[in-house]
Amino acid sequence: MKALFDTLHPGDRDWELAQAIDPTRLPEHIAIIMDGNGRWAERRLLPRVAGHKAGIGPVRSAVETCARLGVKALTLYAFSVENWKRPRHEVETLWRLLRYYLKQELPELQRNDVRLQAIGRLEALPAAVRGELESAVEATANNRGLLVNLAINYGGRAEIVDAVNAVLEMARLEGSLGTLKMDEDLIATNLYTASCPDPDLLIRTSGEMRISNFLLWQIAYAELYVTETLWPDFTRTDLLEAVVAYQKRERRYGGLRADPPADRILIPALGPS
Ligand code: FPP
Repeated sequence: MKALFDTLHPGDRDWELAQAIDPTRLPEHIAIIMDGNGRWAERRLLPRVAGHKAGIGPVRSAVETCARLGVKALTLYAFSVENWKRPRHEVETLWRLLRYYLKQELPELQRNDVRLQAIGRLEALPAAVRGELESAVEATANNRGLLVNLAINYGGRAEIVDAVNAVLEMARLEGSLGTLKMDEDLIATNLYTASCPDPDLLIRTSGEMRISNFLLWQIAYAELYVTETLWPDFTRTDLLEAVVAYQKRERRYGGLRADPPADRILIPALGPS
């Protein structure tokens, strides 16, 4: 967290928020549904694509803040399998912006020791976008800081189907298809995100109370945080507020309370029989 304090000014709002964060209980993995670009633009009487363009700054800021905070992984929902239904011009602009971001940000990603990974059905992307993504992923492959997963042509159901098919294919190659018994571990280790822990915190901007087919398997126990802020307006302050809110939650994983220390588990006294 020291790296974060280096960029803050004592006494201002972000400084206060950072002071309120317990560095020993950071979310290891934050996932974000970046929503509201279209509405941001419409409110300014601008074309929808202007909202997407304005969404690049908050991507940059979220990556930097997570890297400086010491979060291990950040997953950003950039393009869903359903987003192909949008007008061609909008889809093409999204590809252009992604390529622009990758080119522009690579030096900064390297400086912040960020490792980039792309998750989704990438084979369907335009060749130029795929090429740019592959080179950015390769260029950052040895970095050891924050892992950034860019979810592109991503769908949670598609990811589970792909994981199940990968397990089946592996069993077929090993000749063990007949005796294969599916279990949670087999699916989890074949998800696109197998290399990182499940998200602890899922943030959605623009006030919509939906999951939108995002990380369906992985968010089983994630804490949800929905803010009315539209994505282009999402700042470091919003992100720090989400982390502070997360740390106030009691995570129970279906139990009664989160991991009570053994010496605090009380055996209730028996009453009169
Ligand atoms: C949802 O807002 C946003 C998207 C479909 C695209 C997200 C893209 C960016 C933030 C641009 C830059 C991204 C990267 C990774 C460089 P919406 O259009 O559905 O908004 P609306 O619900 O208000 O219409």
